[in-house]
Amino acid sequence: MTSDLSDDLFGTDIADKAKAIIARYPRSRSALLPMLHLVQSVEGYVSVDGIAFCADQLDLTTAEVSAVATFYTMYKRKPCGEHLVSVCTNTLCAALGGDAIYDGLRKHLGRDGKALGHEQTSGEPGEPGSITLEHAECLAACDLAPVLQVNYEFYDNQTPESALDLVKQLQAGKKPDPSRGAPLTDFRQVELQLAGFLDGRESDVDGPSAAPETLRGAKIAHEKGWTAPAMPDSVSFPALPEKK
Ligand code: FES
Repeated sequence: MTSDLSDDLFGTDIADKAKAIIARYPRSRSALLPMLHLVQSVEGYVSVDGIAFCADQLDLTTAEVSAVATFYTMYKRKPCGEHLVSVCTNTLCAALGGDAIYDGLRKHLGRDGKALGHEQTSGEPGEPGSITLEHAECLAACDLAPVLQVNYEFYDNQTPESALDLVKQLQAGKKPDPSRGAPLTDFRQVELQLAGFLDGRESDVDGPSAAPETLRGAKIAHEKGWTAPAMPDSVSFPALPEKK
């Protein structure tokens, strides 16, 4: 479906990308998650206009799109900065310094003596050096705690000092290499990648994602010839209901 809305707000390039996303799925509504990343790549968040664009393209109601967009924390409801900094403050990271990291960054990025709040932005959203700060639940890197992410790329084994230095570098326009994974870009570029558009830079996002700490147990088991016990033959699982 094409509409004036897509042309006016998101341009023909984004409307074409939306069509390419929709073409990946047997049913257009299945394309909603990457479509929401696509609109975030344009505006830095999912705006009311972005919701209307998705609804229009996917033949959904705006209520249906809103219900999905407000469920997942990766879809932002306010414009994000050039970079999104997510500090893990879940139990393990918090105990090992995540809370101190978050507090230090809140104070550094705040203004007039007021610390920055969750999902608030220092600087003009989208402008160079602007930073949106959030605290995050477990980022699935507990063996490297405390961790933070910038635009979903990992910076492992952080301290309040190293995190502050990292954020200062981001504010100065630098893009320090993450501990692993893809090189750092910016929030909107990553949103485009999450929508499935790599612009010929596939090799750039194909960095190693596992740290040596994560693989250490498997490596020791391999060296010692350890294997998991086989499942006993007597174990049986209940039959799954037929798929309708
Ligand atoms: S508690 Fe921080 S990565 Fe799991």
